[in-house]
Amino acid sequence: MRAVCPGSFDPVTMGHLDIFRRAAAHFEELTVLVTGNPNKRTGLFTIDERMELIRSVTRDIPNVRVDWWGGLLVEYTTKHGITALVKGLRTALDYEYELPMAQMNRRLTGVDTFFLLTDEKYGYISSSLLKEVAKYGGDVRGLLPDAVVEAVEAKYRSTNG
Ligand code: PNS
Repeated sequence: MRAVCPGSFDPVTMGHLDIFRRAAAHFEELTVLVTGNPNKRTGLFTIDERMELIRSVTRDIPNVRVDWWGGLLVEYTTKHGITALVKGLRTALDYEYELPMAQMNRRLTGVDTFFLLTDEKYGYISSSLLKEVAKYGGDVRGLLPDAVVEAVEAKYRSTNG
């Protein structure tokens, strides 16, 4: 069975990477799907940059592919004949946020959502928290993959002047 792991991944964290690895061990193929509109400049990284970072940190996981989508998630899964979504859950807040989306997606097309519990090492991190810490010079090593730490630092060097 093939699955899609969707998200904004701005940028990909060690928590995401852990979910990709574990999901890839259970599915024949895992598509990490960066969602968003490539023409809108939202977030720190462009869609292309996010995809490139994900590609570089998942190079050693042979059944992971990376793609992007600007529409409804279920249009992508239907188009590719994929019947499973994978999401990571950190806390009950994530559950509250994910539950209606999972139920709506299932109602729309029958696609099922599989939840993996985040490794306890990464339960408190998010892309936005790590960006904020990095922006003000805090140490985010070990929480973002090394290539991503460098990319985030380079972004803030250029935007902070
Ligand atoms: O990493 P995020 O930002 O929490 O991911 C949320 C995401 C991308 C999974 C969600 O916003 C999404 O599914 N976007 C695609 C548009 C869509 O299908 N929306 C309806 C969901 S029921």
